[in-house]
Amino acid sequence: MKVLVIGGGAREHALCRSLSLDPDVTALHCAPGNAGIAQVAEMHEVDALDGTAVAALATRLGVGLVVVGPEAPLVAGVADAVRGAGIPCFGPSKEAAQLEGSKAFAKDVMAAAGVPTARSYVCTTEAEAEEALDAFGPPYVVKDDGLAAGKGVVVTDDLAAAKAHALACERVVIEEFLDGPEVSLFAITDGETVLPLTPAQDFKRALDGDEGPNTGGMGAYSPLPWADPKLVDEVMTTVLQPTVDELRRRGTPFSGLLYAGLAITSRGVRVIEFNARFGDPETQVVLARLRTPLASVLLNAAQGTLDTEPPLRWRDEAAVTVVIASHNYPGTPRTGDPIEGLDEVAEQDAPDAYVLHAGTRMDGDAVVSAGGRVLSVTATGQDLAQARERAYAAVARVRLDGSQHRTDIAAAAAEAAAR
Ligand code: AMP
Ligand code: GLY
Repeated sequence: MKVLVIGGGAREHALCRSLSLDPDVTALHCAPGNAGIAQVAEMHEVDALDGTAVAALATRLGVGLVVVGPEAPLVAGVADAVRGAGIPCFGPSKEAAQLEGSKAFAKDVMAAAGVPTARSYVCTTEAEAEEALDAFGPPYVVKDDGLAAGKGVVVTDDLAAAKAHALACERVVIEEFLDGPEVSLFAITDGETVLPLTPAQDFKRALDGDEGPNTGGMGAYSPLPWADPKLVDEVMTTVLQPTVDELRRRGTPFSGLLYAGLAITSRGVRVIEFNARFGDPETQVVLARLRTPLASVLLNAAQGTLDTEPPLRWRDEAAVTVVIASHNYPGTPRTGDPIEGLDEVAEQDAPDAYVLHAGTRMDGDAVVSAGGRVLSVTATGQDLAQARERAYAAVARVRLDGSQHRTDIAAAAAEAAAR
C-alpha cells in the first residue's frame, strides 16, 4: 500500500516512523514534512489547508491511503476533498472535526450523548462572561471557542485575567474547574466501531512542576501505572462509544482518531476536551508501544471496515518523550538555530531512544530549528524509570542554542511505579 501523510510535526514523524516499519507499506510520502521525516518518507510540498491541492497530490502519487495529521486541515475539509477524489482518507470530515474546531459544538454533542464533562456556559457578550465567571468562582476556566493550537485556554485565580481573556475572544466557553490528574485516551473509529488505544499523559505547562503558560505539550509517557486498569473500558462506555454514536445519529459520522482529554476527578471521569486527531506529544509514546502494524488499522478505519480488525497488541515496555522547544516558546519562538548532536543519538542511543522532529528544516547540510516545539526525544524501556533515563540521556546529547525542556517528564509516575 502507498501512503501519504499530511503534516510536518513530531506526531507526523511518529506516524511516518511506524508506517515505514510496516511491511504492508510499499511507499511512504509526506507533505510538507520536516527534516526528520525526510529520512523515512519521500517529501512533497503542498499547502496542507488546500483540500484540492492535497487530493491532486494524492491522485498524482497513486496512494491508497491519505492520513491527515493536524487539526487545521481537518477543520478546513481536507479529508472530504481526498475522499471526493475517491481515495480512502484517515481523518474526519469538516463537519465531524467541529468536535475539536468548536468547543461549544463539542459541549452540545456531549450533552446530547450524556457524556460527563465540566458544566459550562457559552458566552458572546461581556455581561454573559461576567455572569458565568461569577457563577463558577475561582479557579476560572476560560476557553476560546475556536482552534488555538492548545493556547486558547486560560485557567487562573485572577478574575481580571479571566475577564481579559474572555473579552479577547469572540465566543468563549466558561466552565467549571476540574481537578485531578489528566489522561489522554485516543480511539480509532470508522464512525461505528471504536478501537481504543492505550492511555498516555501529557505535560501541558511550559515549566517543571506544572508552572508557566500552557503549551501544545512538553512531554508524555505511557503506560500510566497509577491509573485504574478499568479506565479504558469505562471511558469506552461513558465517553467514546456514545460520542461516536451521537455523531452518526446526527448524520455526520466521525471517522479517524477521536482524542479524549480527560480529568480523573474525585467525582469520576470528566471530558476536558475532544480533539479530532492524534495528540502531540502523546502519539510519540503511544505508537512506540503499539505492536500491531499501523497501516491496515488506519485503512480499515478509513474504509468503514474496522469491525474486521482484531484487538490491538501492545508492547510491555514503557515509553517517555521529552519535547525540546525553541527559545521563548510558547511565545513567538526564535528559529533558524542549528541543531547538533542528532548523529550522536542515532549512533549511541538507537533503537532504545530516538529523535522525532517537529519544527525543523534543512539549511544546506545543517538541520535548523523552524518552530516552537523543535524535537520530541522518545525512548522505551522496561519501565518508566528506564525509559525516562534513556530519553534524558539522548536529550543531553542534543545542542540547540537557547532551547528549553522540562526535566520532570514522567518523574512522579516513575516514582509511583517503583513504590
Ligand atoms: P484544552 O485546550 O481544553 O485541553 O485545555 C488546555 C488545558 O487547560 C487542559 O489540558 C487542562 O490542563 C486545562 N483545562 C482545561 N479545561 C479545564 C477545566 N475545566 N478544569 C481544569 N483545567 C482545565
Ligand atoms: N497534547 C495535546 C494535543 O495534542 O492537543
